[in-house]
Amino acid sequence: MADRFSKWGRKMLDPLHWRMEFRPRPGDIFIATYPKSGTTWVQMILVQLLNEGRGEFDHILQVSPYLEELLMRNRIRHLESLPSPRLMKTHMLYEHLRPAKDSRIILVTRDVRDSIISFYYHNEMASRFRLDFNAFVERALRSRDNNWFTYMRSWLPHRHDDNVLWVRYEDLRENLEAQVRRIAAFCGIPLQEERMGDILHKCSFAYMKERETKFDFRLSMYEPLEGSFIRKGGSGGSERQRIREEHAAELARQLEQLRAELRLEDSER
Ligand code: A3P
Repeated sequence: MADRFSKWGRKMLDPLHWRMEFRPRPGDIFIATYPKSGTTWVQMILVQLLNEGRGEFDHILQVSPYLEELLMRNRIRHLESLPSPRLMKTHMLYEHLRPAKDSRIILVTRDVRDSIISFYYHNEMASRFRLDFNAFVERALRSRDNNWFTYMRSWLPHRHDDNVLWVRYEDLRENLEAQVRRIAAFCGIPLQEERMGDILHKCSFAYMKERETKFDFRLSMYEPLEGSFIRKGGSGGSERQRIREEHAAELARQLEQLRAELRLEDSER
């Protein structure tokens, strides 16, 4: 699966291919994430914000498409039919997306360990084979095509850009309402106080889990289902103990290097 992903990656991250196909529109909203960082959650937050907590759909990708999937299927033109503001999900690097100044980007990040663990289950579910956990972590650490650190080095230098809002998965879990308010303010979406309860309810883990077929990427690809997409929705926890000591130490070392390189403040950790 990782190899298939990288093959996909090479074509879908071809900036020329992307630039030729896409016609930007003022007010476009991009949800930019490294995979398994809370993308779907933030898609749902925005869908509900834009519809005052009454957003309904058969599948989330109908209302918030995945750019690379459209690119791969030569269906970028589909974006022309969407109402403004268009809400698009992407895992592209900053230099490939090169967002227009009048677009808005919600950059969502998650602790590297939780993101890798979640990616492991995602790939296992997608490949329908049991994957070796430690081999997966090792590959995630070494891969150059599709690496958490490469992604952060590309995006985090833009975290203070006027058209970028940095949202962390951990902050969403800690205080969803505060983050929903931040996102609404940043995107200029008016918030009616009496609708906040419904928005929070629809963006809760329990609500989304109960309706997980509406979010499952495999349905957008018409594949049979096994395993769960809205899986556990945690930070830390016992699953992190599955990461071997030497891999955990290597992750910590690379993280420190990244923080020093990007001069991340303590409050940004
Ligand atoms: P886990 O696999 O750790 O459970 P993405 O949408 O980027 O693929 O991210 C998927 C991760 O976000 C999964 O993490 C999923 O459970 C979690 N997630 C999705 N909706 C959530 C919600 N409402 N609350 C908390 N976590 C959520």
